[in-house]
Amino acid sequence: MPTKPKIGIVGKGAIGSLLSFKCATLKLNYQLLLRTKQDFCFQVQDITGQQHKITPAVSDIHHPKSFDVLILPVKAYQVMPILLQMKPFIQSHHVLVLLHNGMGTIEQVRAMFPNNSLVAATTSYGAFKPSDQRITETGLGETHFGWIKKPNTSLQNSITPILSSLLPPSTWHKDITLALWKKLAINGVVNPLTAIHNIKNGQLSDIGYQKDIAEICAEIAQVMSKAGYPVTTLELINNVLNVINATANNYSSMHQDIAFMRKTEIEYINGYVLKMATKLKIKTPTNHFLVEQIRRLETKKDA
Ligand code: PAF
Repeated sequence: MPTKPKIGIVGKGAIGSLLSFKCATLKLNYQLLLRTKQDFCFQVQDITGQQHKITPAVSDIHHPKSFDVLILPVKAYQVMPILLQMKPFIQSHHVLVLLHNGMGTIEQVRAMFPNNSLVAATTSYGAFKPSDQRITETGLGETHFGWIKKPNTSLQNSITPILSSLLPPSTWHKDITLALWKKLAINGVVNPLTAIHNIKNGQLSDIGYQKDIAEICAEIAQVMSKAGYPVTTLELINNVLNVINATANNYSSMHQDIAFMRKTEIEYINGYVLKMATKLKIKTPTNHFLVEQIRRLETKKDA
């Protein structure tokens, strides 16, 4: 049984890069898995403004070194294609960790890897990547974890504190689904509205957006409650307003995806709400409208 689990981190997005910086700082045994093995260093500006230079331990995703835990801090729609690509290297004792906005991948991963232990996580850590080799911690956040399928106790005991130490403070939940839904509700409001109106998060506190925010939250609260996670519309609205204030100066990830003509996570955010609403026979016209608007903006990039 590994005493110091070997960690694989997939991709050098903002959170993947930040995780490799944390692993390097904590002197953990890790590798950053990229499409091509490349030597590079990146500069991290931590929350205190201090600069750090690190040369991450990189492996080619097609030839990974051995690992015990595989963390996937990638877009929700990238999870399955990446795992499919890595399937020849994934053994049943490997622990998979999902860390992204939105919901819907747990079901997909469980269907393809029914024997693997699985952790689902969500973080509000802000990390901005102004260029390929620079990362700025934009504000301290918090991370929520939950075991979807547990490994044996000794592996669990060695992995849990390591995951907890990466993006602290961390909370472990018996049932992570409620935390995932609550984060989804935040993303379900902030992401599409900022992308559609081409605004920073903070501008959503303008009076003109309050009706939309309340309607989106009311629909999500209804779906959550019928799915077995009772919550009030007011609680969701307050969570959204707190994030809007805390990240007022940021552009949301979906705003950036649309601005840079990339695919968005809409199908795993408001799209997941629609899927659940259909299953539970609930009408969610506002979420439906947002999904259609974002799909239209996404296809514009192909025009
Ligand atoms: O996706 C994002 O941008 C972030 O999760 C959040 C919390 C909406 C802040 O911008």
